[in-house]
Amino acid sequence: MNLPAMQGLNLNAPAYVKNARLIAWVADMVALCKPDKVYWCDGSDEEYDRLARQLVDAGTFRKLDPVKRPNSFLACSDPGDVARVEDRTFICSKKKEDAGPTNNWTDPDEMRATLQPLFDGSMRGRTMYVVPFSMGPLGSPIAHIGIELSDSAYVAVNMKIMTRMGKAVYDVLGVNGEFVPCIHTVGAPLQPGEKSSSWPCNKTKYIVHYPETREIWSFGSGYGGNALLGKKCFALRIASGMGRAAAGGASGSPGWLAEHMLILGVTTPEGRKYHVAAAFPSACGKTNFAMLIPPKGFDGWKVTTIGDDIAWIKPGADGKLYAINPEAGYFGVAPGTNTETNPNCMASLDKNVIFTNVALTEDGDVWWEGMGPAPAHAIDWQGKDWTPQIAKETGAKAAHANARFTVAAINNPALDPAWDDPKGVAIDAFIFGGRRSTTVPLVTEARNWVEGVYMAATMGSETTAAIVGEVGVVRRDPFAMLPFTGYNMSDYFQHWLDLGRKLSGSGASLPKIFTTNWFRKGDDGKFVWPGYGENMRVLKWMIDRIEGKVQGTEHVFGVGPAYSEVSWTGLDFTPEQFKTVTSIDKAAWQKEMQLHTELFKQLEYHLPRELAETKSRIEERLAA
Ligand code: GTP
Ligand code: SPV
Ligand code: MN
Repeated sequence: MNLPAMQGLNLNAPAYVKNARLIAWVADMVALCKPDKVYWCDGSDEEYDRLARQLVDAGTFRKLDPVKRPNSFLACSDPGDVARVEDRTFICSKKKEDAGPTNNWTDPDEMRATLQPLFDGSMRGRTMYVVPFSMGPLGSPIAHIGIELSDSAYVAVNMKIMTRMGKAVYDVLGVNGEFVPCIHTVGAPLQPGEKSSSWPCNKTKYIVHYPETREIWSFGSGYGGNALLGKKCFALRIASGMGRAAAGGASGSPGWLAEHMLILGVTTPEGRKYHVAAAFPSACGKTNFAMLIPPKGFDGWKVTTIGDDIAWIKPGADGKLYAINPEAGYFGVAPGTNTETNPNCMASLDKNVIFTNVALTEDGDVWWEGMGPAPAHAIDWQGKDWTPQIAKETGAKAAHANARFTVAAINNPALDPAWDDPKGVAIDAFIFGGRRSTTVPLVTEARNWVEGVYMAATMGSETTAAIVGEVGVVRRDPFAMLPFTGYNMSDYFQHWLDLGRKLSGSGASLPKIFTTNWFRKGDDGKFVWPGYGENMRVLKWMIDRIEGKVQGTEHVFGVGPAYSEVSWTGLDFTPEQFKTVTSIDKAAWQKEMQLHTELFKQLEYHLPRELAETKSRIEERLAA
């Protein structure tokens, strides 16, 4: 514990930090990363303002117009650091099979040997911020604590919005409490006297998880899920493993689930309230669906947000599944968001926002593609002049396609009163939805849990700008968790199946499972389904199914809606258009099934037998 003193640096841990393991770990990381200073975040508003001012002075933040966008900032990243890096993300379990074929794997000892020289001296010339955070309401039995050590003040202020961050975490942690250690460096040490760039990062990137020891090591990126380690790294990759590890035991516990899901409440005109959790891949409409405003003709219907990206779901004593949102803010996609597509989201962005990689307008406000009329001139996310003319000639985007906003959940006018209730909300339906231009119908209901798990497991989706790499490529994205399941994907399927069996065995009625696709395109290449608020029509059909008000029609994969079962008031959508988004093309589906075959081949090890059987039954029905 005297290591830092040996190098002339005092840890300066505040007296309220009493956790011996934490102090020892910080000392170790200080000795390794060799920062100039250690700063312990207390999570206060005063601290946020101070760090934001420092970020302005460093050129990372630009303060936006205080009247148009009070207390809001714009950060523009290095052009090489704009999204999650899946090919640099690793699950380093002892055994390769435990990471499974969908994760990058390296032996943990080998990975530690690789990372050691990278982290050694990585924070020279910088401050190490000690960021204490709780995923889930502080002190609640479902919450878990993490401590992120980061040399990025941008990360510290984002964590203040995205998590319950601050001093009170140490009261919960106490002397012996458990926490997930998360070490993050941008990997850009400074020579004495050298000035930092406004967005330091490193070409070499590593996002590493050790599931057995529950550690996260992130090197080289300052962006989103690569750097805000409470989010994908902890709340999904590490937590999914924790939920599975909790299963079994003497009590035969079903364990729990950590999912890439929004959670919403939907209230009918009669005042009945349901809760829905929906998994859509990155940049496929979760934030949007979670904040949905019912369209004209839906008087008395209300949708409220519990979460927009991550759900932790645990069985209650009554056998129902209870979901909480472990986060406290939204790190949402800006492009495409406007007052028509998502008015609640736009209202959330009125004040107290950090924008990243959007354009700066001449009046000190922000703009992005799809926000509304383009300004005559702006500074694009890379600091260059942008005009509609330049865009026309060069295709230059004012905002990066994965530009984001960071905003507190309490800014959301549609926030559900139970959004931070430690008990969570009882889930009535799960939705799994991919982005598919063809083949997949608007909505399908699974006839039972196993069929639903099959649908989720075989879901395909076109890649988006949320991931570094090619956009628009169809890939299998099981449960929208391809980049986030922290263990073997087949074992994850089994965990879902086991959980369903245990709960229904104890007499509980399981949530219904649906799949959706808002993104089918017509011959003109345009989306046929109007989407956004109009998705309420599909949500209402689901509620009607739960309430037994409509029958649906059975087909090869499940149950779909008849045109007459959907409420069309206020929308001109013909039966022909409906057919375009709901029809099932046998030839296309036979091709699709080949992709399921490839997936199951890849996931052969531990693939649950029920899923292979479900596939055979679908193939038989398709051939009939
Ligand atoms: P992550 O934060 O990356 O996990 O994404 P998300 O699933 O929360 O995605 P989000 O709701 O932010 O939407 C991403 C993009 O899809 C935005 O550009 C939206 O405008 C667009 N989008 C959302 N819902 C719909 C829809 O119903 N139809 C269409 N066509 N586009 C949509
Ligand atoms: C996603 O990519 O699914 C996100 C954004 O929600 S990030 O937090 O950067 O992973
Ligand atoms: Mn996400």
